[in-house]
Amino acid sequence: QTNKREAFGSRNVFILSAIGSAVGLGNIWRFPYVAYEGGGGAFLIPYLCALLTAGIPLLFFDYAIGHRFRGSAPLAFRRMHRSAETLGWWQVLICVVISVYYAVIIAWSAMYTWFSAQLTWGPGNENDFFFVDFLQSADVAETGVSTQFVPQVGVPLIVVWLAVIVIMCLGVKKGIGRANMILMPLLTVMFAVLVVQSLFLPGALDGLNAFFTPNWEALADPAVWASAYGHIFFSLSVAFGIMVTYASYLKRKTDLTGSGLVVAFANSGFEILAGIGVFAALGFMAQAQGTEVAGVASSGIGLAFIAFPTIVSQATGGSIIGVLFFGALVFAGVTSLISILEVIVAALQDKLGWKRIRTTLTVSLPLAVISMALFSTTTALSVLDTADAFVNAFGIMAVALVAVIVVAWLLHRLPALKDHLNRRSSFPVGWIWMLLVGALAPLVLGYLFVSELIAKITTPYGGYPAWFLGVFGWGMVISLVILAILLSLLPWSGRSHAKDD
Ligand code: PHE
Ligand code: NA
Repeated sequence: QTNKREAFGSRNVFILSAIGSAVGLGNIWRFPYVAYEGGGGAFLIPYLCALLTAGIPLLFFDYAIGHRFRGSAPLAFRRMHRSAETLGWWQVLICVVISVYYAVIIAWSAMYTWFSAQLTWGPGNENDFFFVDFLQSADVAETGVSTQFVPQVGVPLIVVWLAVIVIMCLGVKKGIGRANMILMPLLTVMFAVLVVQSLFLPGALDGLNAFFTPNWEALADPAVWASAYGHIFFSLSVAFGIMVTYASYLKRKTDLTGSGLVVAFANSGFEILAGIGVFAALGFMAQAQGTEVAGVASSGIGLAFIAFPTIVSQATGGSIIGVLFFGALVFAGVTSLISILEVIVAALQDKLGWKRIRTTLTVSLPLAVISMALFSTTTALSVLDTADAFVNAFGIMAVALVAVIVVAWLLHRLPALKDHLNRRSSFPVGWIWMLLVGALAPLVLGYLFVSELIAKITTPYGGYPAWFLGVFGWGMVISLVILAILLSLLPWSGRSHAKDD
């Protein structure tokens, strides 16, 4: 007997869960910096172009595949065409890599929520506190990949894994749906309070000026356009198999494009709010230190775990700002992490015909162990940095590129997917959608892929030693493809692949 496919309680729960997946660490710490680097106010132009011409069309593409073929990524692609199954496993394996390091950033954020309440790092020591006291970072070039356990990272990491394993075991409706129903409203409120509070900090206006002042010259730089497209793919979680999986849990009669538009605009709303909040806070920091905003705006990890703690130390009511900011990172991260894990769990459930809990435990326990082994040690940061850079550049970009080419040009499925989208949708799609997905997306993705490839070949990423990049960078992305091919050769349980529902 095969299990009946699980489902979300309602379309609203699906929308909330899809927003939960999309709104993640990328919105909060990645977007503000990418936008600032890409011309500030002027970046809104490439950003909106990327959103409208690639992000939303590919989001519809993912929805259409998951909903039309009603399966996890490998099953949905296989039902489209037998030989397309590999694409689905490739996405599953990308999610495996991302899940093991995504959990760690949530664990750091959880610890920093706690530290913020009591200003554990001590004023003026935020940089050393993060790298030396907290992470106990060692240099891979000297120590190799270390096995030395760092308890203040390892312990919260266990807690994060236990929490998400419980949610995953409860299933789509009672676990994922309910977690998003609770966490997303909470996240929205925390975020609103955080943004308003940072707008009242002295110097906030300078921060906003720095953020929004348009640098029109940036528009002439192709790298800025590339970063806008790259960011949108990541931010909307398209081409990860996530939206394919979530859409497979929707009722047959669902307005797909209407839901997609809500998700896309909610995600952008969060990003722009985050930009405002983060730069208001940076404006305060610059004023407190008597420097320019440009001098304090740093990227990714530095922004969250060094600049923000500095703001927390210096602002009146800083502890509250810190708790809200890091708490928001935890909630946004957890709702994204469960969506990544669902891609893996759903795929194995379909392939093996196993029940929910058995599959969840079989998947998550080994992932938790790998995540602990690699990321609660003194060399965690280098591994994380490298895996993230390579899987984004060559995992996601490459799978998205291959997927659009296969579906549009080899299998000629765009017209059928278009009709599927239009069956119930409030926002009809037509030839423009097919043109964007079939022609513009491959061009942009191809350009991004090739330029990343050249960059990563010509300069060793992050200055890490060659053996290290060989293992955690190139080796990792190449083994994903090989493993995906092998997995798609394994047999399916019973008739699960043939049966629709
Ligand atoms: N879209 C998420 C963000 O903006 C990132 C993410 C990537 C989520 C992969 C799930 C899977 O942070
Ligand atoms: Na996002």
